[in-house]
Amino acid sequence: MSDHIEIKLDGAVQIIRMNRPDKKNALTAEMYGQMSDGLISAFENDAVKSVLILGCPGVFSAGNDIGDFMKIAMSGDRSSMQVFDFLEQLIMAKKPVIAGVDGLAIGIGTTMLLHCDYVIASEQASFKTPFVDLGLVPEAGSSLFAPRLMGHHRAFELLAMGEKFSPQDARDAGFVNAIVKSDVLEKTALDVAADIASKPPQAMEITRKLIRGDRSDILARMKEEAVLFGERLASDEAKQAFMAFMSKGK
Ligand code: COA
Repeated sequence: MSDHIEIKLDGAVQIIRMNRPDKKNALTAEMYGQMSDGLISAFENDAVKSVLILGCPGVFSAGNDIGDFMKIAMSGDRSSMQVFDFLEQLIMAKKPVIAGVDGLAIGIGTTMLLHCDYVIASEQASFKTPFVDLGLVPEAGSSLFAPRLMGHHRAFELLAMGEKFSPQDARDAGFVNAIVKSDVLEKTALDVAADIASKPPQAMEITRKLIRGDRSDILARMKEEAVLFGERLASDEAKQAFMAFMSKGK
């Protein structure tokens, strides 16, 4: 098992850190599996009152590992798409989830934030979902949740046009709460997660349920997107985009 995902408890906060900086925290099937396990263990452990998702200084995540996409595209085997287990845990999260974003948040690096309860970005953060440019379609239920959150036009700009959002754009769109300097990002995010964790847990749980509402429609959309996404992975458009990325890396 790799150490690309670090999970540790800090007081009542379970920290899940993506830690593959040499690949810009590109997420592999194994990493999704570990993140999913990290969420489940946090939800099952009474000592944990909130979860904090972090990347590394300078990079949150460059999204799904394109090599993994390529493998699925070539083999047609979609059985190892642990990403959807991770997303299901996040969409239906039973405890508050906070994220601290420094640097790049691409693809699922951005869409996972839509399902967090509180997101802190550094001034260096940038958000981008180049699904269409890769021959793909949105995932994580974002095709339903993003227009609901930010309106059709901004959701189109983000999800269909693949435009880059600045921290301020993301705050205006409603998926970033606060913007801080990079050097205090992690401390601020941990302080917020600890503050949330310190509140009466039952009142927090009920309040959060009321605010989040029934997310079963988002989960259903995530599953619908997953089928289309799988089909798109095998498309010529996607294969060409993956090959272009991989050959630049060589
Ligand atoms: N999948 C696999 N590897 C990735 C990756 C990804 N999503 N993103 C970055 N990497 C790897 C690069 O291949 C490179 O590996 P190498 O050092 O072995 O060549 C390493 O991470 C560093 O990336 P590099 O491209 O050299 O850094 P950069 O600062 O010039 O650019 C990005 C960073 C993130 C803008 C660029 O790597 C990129 O566009 N990545 C793809 C993002 C993407 O489309 N994700 C999928 C969304 S659905």
